[in-house]
Amino acid sequence: MNGNLSILFNQTDPEHSDAGCVSADTVTSVHAFHAGISGYAPTPLLSLPALSSSLGVSQILVKDESKRFGLNAFKSLGGSYAIAKYVCDQFGLTVGKNTIQILRSPQYAHRLKEFTFVTATDGNHGRGVAWAAKMLGCQAVVYLPAGSSKERLENILALGAKAEITNLNYDDTVRYAEKMAKQNHWSLIQDTAWEGYEEIPTHIMQGYTTLACEIVSQLKEKGFQPPTHLFLQAGVGSMAGAIAGYFFSLWKDACPDIILVEPDQADCLYQTAKANDGTLHTVSGRMNSMMAGLCCGEPCTIGWKILKNLARAFISCDDSYAAHGMQLLGKPVGSDPPVISGESGAVTIGVAAKIMREPDLAAIQTALALSQHSRILVISTEGDTDRENYRRILNAASL
Ligand SMILES: Cc1ncc(COP(=O)(O)O)c(C=O)c1O
Repeated sequence: MNGNLSILFNQTDPEHSDAGCVSADTVTSVHAFHAGISGYAPTPLLSLPALSSSLGVSQILVKDESKRFGLNAFKSLGGSYAIAKYVCDQFGLTVGKNTIQILRSPQYAHRLKEFTFVTATDGNHGRGVAWAAKMLGCQAVVYLPAGSSKERLENILALGAKAEITNLNYDDTVRYAEKMAKQNHWSLIQDTAWEGYEEIPTHIMQGYTTLACEIVSQLKEKGFQPPTHLFLQAGVGSMAGAIAGYFFSLWKDACPDIILVEPDQADCLYQTAKANDGTLHTVSGRMNSMMAGLCCGEPCTIGWKILKNLARAFISCDDSYAAHGMQLLGKPVGSDPPVISGESGAVTIGVAAKIMREPDLAAIQTALALSQHSRILVISTEGDTDRENYRRILNAASL
């Protein structure tokens, strides 16, 4: 018995994708910045041959972002780059591979204490902002939406940030953070863009591309061809826009088919694509999906401009797909390596697997041209960021 899954096919127009902000040159310099941070190592790109043969595809690759800077999610890539860029712009410096060392030198250290960065987060982005602020000796203030897990709050507090859970949903928490920034003269480091607020989110999206840059090198090192299908999960669509945009600028016609996946309670990109009227559509109200990182009801303007022309399909699905993906990756078949993948990290493989296996999704398999020749890439964007829920899902009967 399958959960709820809806799919919308999209007419792509890659030549008009607005992906200039994630050009190959930018991506190379962003990667150099991250590589200069102490503790940097590329996260693993894992091949799952047993799963791919059981699903009847040629290859499944998983990029495991639970290993990112010891923070259990990819998000720190965006916050750290945006904060470094902001600070460097203030000091007239260029961001590069020695940026962190330069900023930590006595010449700048005392001035950095005066900076306060504020953000709203489901947990992962705020943890990244708190981590980057701490690394530079700045202050961070982080607001989480109602229903956020205590563990996610505590992880942020442990990095020395001020943090609290609000009684608002994610999108209202973003507005609250913006208001607090204005009131207190703090700098808002938000991982989504709207009209009039696009510079910092652009830097955040550029920051995410380090993971895509690593994938390109890892494919070469391992002698693998680029994927044919890339399943990307989306909250506001910043991450998916950045990754899809970069892969398109690099691979052009050989760019994989991009399939976006969102929770059905927060499927703002799906709804925007469905309406197809040139405006952004939002989803509001309480969102109880366990995919906390994807529970965002308002699309990122920059991400959408890229995705509307690059995404081959938009999928909206319920939590059962995330649970299935968590189990598939956490309890692998054969000698495949296990991947600890949290709710928002695992939904894409859950969706891909069900499309390959479930007879009532066979028409989608055909329409997406998924076959024994397909090479699927997914990004496990987080590990067990809510350990209690992770254990509960892994211990449950097969989902
Ligand atoms: C683990 C995880 N995956 C994916 C996303 C989605 O990123 P975006 O909101 O840019 O679409 C998030 C966002 O917070 C996240 O925390």
